[in-house]
Amino acid sequence: MYPKLIIDKEKFRHNVKELLNKCHENGQSMMAVTKVFCADHELVDILIEENVDYIADSRIQNLMTFTSLIPRVLLRLPMMSEAELIVKHSEISLNSEIETIKELNRESGKINKKHGVILMIDLGDLREGIFIEENIYSTIEKILKLEHIQLKGIGTNLTCYGGVIPSAEILNQLVNYKNRIEKEFEIKLDIISGGNSSNIELLYEGLIPEGINNIRLGESIVLGRETAYGNDIENIYNDVFTLETEIIEIKEKPSIPIGEIGMNAFGKTPIFKDTGNMLRAIIGIGKQDVDYLELIPYDTISAIGSSSDHIILDMSETDNIYNVGDLVLFKLTYASILSLTTSKYVTRTYV
Ligand SMILES: Cc1ncc(COP(=O)(O)O)c(C=O)c1O
Repeated sequence: MYPKLIIDKEKFRHNVKELLNKCHENGQSMMAVTKVFCADHELVDILIEENVDYIADSRIQNLMTFTSLIPRVLLRLPMMSEAELIVKHSEISLNSEIETIKELNRESGKINKKHGVILMIDLGDLREGIFIEENIYSTIEKILKLEHIQLKGIGTNLTCYGGVIPSAEILNQLVNYKNRIEKEFEIKLDIISGGNSSNIELLYEGLIPEGINNIRLGESIVLGRETAYGNDIENIYNDVFTLETEIIEIKEKPSIPIGEIGMNAFGKTPIFKDTGNMLRAIIGIGKQDVDYLELIPYDTISAIGSSSDHIILDMSETDNIYNVGDLVLFKLTYASILSLTTSKYVTRTYV
C-alpha cells in the first residue's frame, strides 16, 4: 500500500558503524537518537547489533517499545507526570529541574532502582538547561542527597532553538563546569555530553575539547548531514529513507484557479502565479502525513501545494511519462522523515 517508506537497512547500518567508529576514535561514546524514525524496531535492532553505547529518544513512548542491555536515555526533559514510566523504561534521563528529579527519585525508590541523571546546562542556545552558574552547583548538591538517583554527568544542547554553533571555546565552558563540580563535590562524572549532530565538524577535525566524552547523534545517522552548517558527511549515506507515492489523478489544467478566491482547506487565502496550462498530478498523501515543502523529488517535478490528503505536483518539466497508478519517488529531509514515520497511514518496506 502507498504511501510507502522504503528503508535501506544496510545503508543505515553502514552509517551507524562509520559514526560509531569516528566517535570511539575521538574518545566519545555515542548516543544513537531514534526519535526521527519513531524508534522503528528494525532500525533499533541494528543499533543493538552494532552495540552503540546508548540508545536515546525524546519520547518515553518510543523507549518503552524495546528492551536491551544498552542503556536507554530519555532526551527531552521529563514531565513530572511521566516519572513512573521514565524510571521503568529508561536508565538515564536529561534533566534541569530539581523538583522533577525528586519525583524521579520517589518513583525509582518505589521499584528499588537507581535512575541515572544527566544535568543539562544551557550554554546559550536557550532551550533546556540551567543557565545561571550558581544554580548548577546548588542543584548538584541537592541531587547528591537523593538515594535513588545517580548523577551520571552533565550535558549541553546547542543548535536546536537558538541555532548556536558549537565551538571548542563554548564546549570548554562545559569542561570547566565538570572540573569545578568534580573538585567541589569530590565526585567523578561519567558522562560529559557535548551535544548533537552539530558537533560533527568538531568531531571530524579532532577539535572536541578533552573532557567531553559523549555525543548524541540523530540526523547525522539517518541523513548523513552535520547540522551546524548543513554539510554532507563524507562516506555517510543520505538516502536511507525514500518515499514512494502513487498518482491518483494526472491532467492538464490551468496554473491559477478560476473564480473569486476565498479560503483554502486550512483557512488561508492562497496566492497563485499564472504560468499558463500545466500538467498536474495528485498523489495520495497530504498535510496529515507530511509538509509537501519537505519532499525532494527524484524527477524534475515540483510539489506545488497540498490539502489534508492530497499533494499536487507540477509535472510539466519532466520528460518521463506518468500515468494514473504510477509511482513518484522522493528523497526526504529530517522534518519529512519525522512526520512520515509518525503517520499511521504510511507503510514501510525494508531492503
Ligand atoms: C537533547 C537532544 N540531543 C540530541 C538530539 C539529536 O540531535 P541531532 O538529530 O541533531 O543529532 C536531540 C534531538 O533529536 C535532542 O533533543
